[in-house]
Amino acid sequence: MNVGIIGSGGRENAICLSLTKSKRIKNIYCLPGNAGTVNISKNLNVNIENFQEIKKAVEINKIDLLIVGPEKPLVNGIVDYFNNTNVKIFGPNKAASQLEGSKIFTKNLCKKYKIPTAKFGIFQNSKETKNFINHSNIPVVIKADGLAAGKGVYICDNKEYAYQAIDEIFNGKFGIAKNILVEEFLDGEEMSYFVVTDGNTVKSFETAQDHKRVKEGDKGENTGGMGAYSPSRLINQKLEKKIIDKIINPTLFGLKEMNIEYKGFLYAGLMIKNNEPYLIEYNVRMGDPECQTILPKLKTDLLNILLSCCDGKLKEIDFNWSSQKSISIVLCAKGYPKDYKKNSLIKNFEKIKTDENNLCFHAGTELRNDGIFSVGGRVLNFVSKADNFSKARKNIIKNIENLGWQDGFYRKDIGYKVIDE
Ligand code: AMP
Ligand code: GLY
Repeated sequence: MNVGIIGSGGRENAICLSLTKSKRIKNIYCLPGNAGTVNISKNLNVNIENFQEIKKAVEINKIDLLIVGPEKPLVNGIVDYFNNTNVKIFGPNKAASQLEGSKIFTKNLCKKYKIPTAKFGIFQNSKETKNFINHSNIPVVIKADGLAAGKGVYICDNKEYAYQAIDEIFNGKFGIAKNILVEEFLDGEEMSYFVVTDGNTVKSFETAQDHKRVKEGDKGENTGGMGAYSPSRLINQKLEKKIIDKIINPTLFGLKEMNIEYKGFLYAGLMIKNNEPYLIEYNVRMGDPECQTILPKLKTDLLNILLSCCDGKLKEIDFNWSSQKSISIVLCAKGYPKDYKKNSLIKNFEKIKTDENNLCFHAGTELRNDGIFSVGGRVLNFVSKADNFSKARKNIIKNIENLGWQDGFYRKDIGYKVIDE
């Protein structure tokens, strides 16, 4: 069969590599892909915001299954668009994708089904919100409602910053804002918990811990993710049962009561405090860079998992995982997450050592006639699996140093909580 992967990040490069191991696939297409997917699939230069363009590419290339990597097309209803065709599509539909597309939708669901999460209030204008802040505890968290690519969340240590957040959101920094969300600040340690579901069966898809802040020691601005390790140091059987019973199952039950079917990956961003999980947010896709660190550990054929999900047969599949420890480190363009330089030539790829346990996924890269160039903020993802996290991280750092890209930077401390040195 022919498979199409929508997206152009490190997550999609990792999905693509995983699928190359499936004997049932004839051709893999990446829409639009990056310089890393060129060698293992065929890139199709398609604007993924335009579903008609995608449909044309699907027809021309006889694609049987589409896998949607990023949230935007999901939130905009790409699954609904293809559901009436004979192309299979992996991912949640538009209604289900509100779990990521609207933080307020999710918070209201949490309230109705008593899902543990931060206490919250929803406000419609700046004056009302500021009044509320005047009587709130600090720190307080202020959020824009819709998609904001990892931005749109302000952790406010003082009232002035909270006022600034309120003004920026209502002034349209993240699109037209009818509502604003104010949340209690949750203290604890974060963990990313993944499941995959066909609407009935729910299976764990491993855990990871992402480092979202740009600077070492988890300081500085929030980013899309600077690196991750898997499994999370926090996971244990008791905690996993609580996550499923108190968070995942009530969520899927709540959606069902609204006649919404959920199929695809579901990513719960959790805060763990005293072995108790609290939901921070949902994402309706795999995490990036969590996907890059988790997928290389999967021993089961990914295609079988994705197809069985589309066909409602997930129950029939057993998942096998490597017990290795895995780390991913993101090599970013200097300046990220603020303004950063683009179109910088990256050389020395031949100096990177890659094998079964050491991988280099591309994210913001483009192959041109005269070489591979950076085109995004998060540029390359280095992954290593080993019998311990320390070894994995050392392997990655050696590779990044060998590449020696002058316009890049990375965090050397990814996984510091699981590495004693
Ligand atoms: P979100 O986009 O909702 O995941 O928020 C981005 C990041 O902000 C999360 O990964 C957390 O680090 C932090 N965050 C969001 N909400 C809260 C909260 N209520 N308490 C503490 N930290 C939060
Ligand atoms: N790594 C965070 C995300 O994918 O949203």
